[in-house]
Amino acid sequence: MMELVSFYLPSDYWEDVKELRLRVFVDEMDVPSELEIDEGDQLALHFAFIENGRPLATLRILEEKQKAKIGRVAVAHSHRRQGIGTKLVQEAINYCQKHKIQSISLGAQTYITDFYVAMGFHQQGDIFLDAGIPHVEMILDV
Ligand SMILES: CC(C)(COP(=O)(O)OP(=O)(O)OC[C@H]1O[C@@H](n2cnc3c(N)ncnc32)[C@H](O)[C@@H]1OP(=O)(O)O)[C@@H](O)C(=O)NCCC(=O)NCCS
Repeated sequence: MMELVSFYLPSDYWEDVKELRLRVFVDEMDVPSELEIDEGDQLALHFAFIENGRPLATLRILEEKQKAKIGRVAVAHSHRRQGIGTKLVQEAINYCQKHKIQSISLGAQTYITDFYVAMGFHQQGDIFLDAGIPHVEMILDV
């Protein structure tokens, strides 16, 4: 059974969630580790799906006034294309709706924009490089 948890730091979940993020972004996508874990982690609300004590998926939400930024969306390689990423982003959208957030933004890697379009996001602006990877800003009006 997959369980949704949400937490701010410090948290007992953090070590395992951090390990999942490092595996996905640093090992798999070559993001420098010093960029991957940043000061945003101290401020963010973290979401994760946990199964048998291990995180399968994670993301973080940074709130500022009535806006939110979703980031660091990662699903364990072994569990992709099963709808888990969609479910977790949907949980983050639900959270934002409940907390009177008006718009959600995120920087999507360009290969995966359709994943976010399917949840109602639209692209805004030009493609930019973040950690050497092409991204585009995406917005959802809640
Ligand atoms: C992007 C990511 C979070 C998607 O998670 P997921 O659980 O596999 O996604 P879902 O199963 O919910 O996918 C839903 C739909 O999104 C699209 N999609 C998902 N992964 C895709 C991929 N690698 N390439 C193209 N489209 C993809 C598909 O339309 C998919 O539907 P389908 O499986 O019926 O074809 C996951 O692949 C991941 O962790 N990637 C590495 C880290 C990353 O790129 N994070 C995003 C940063 S912006």
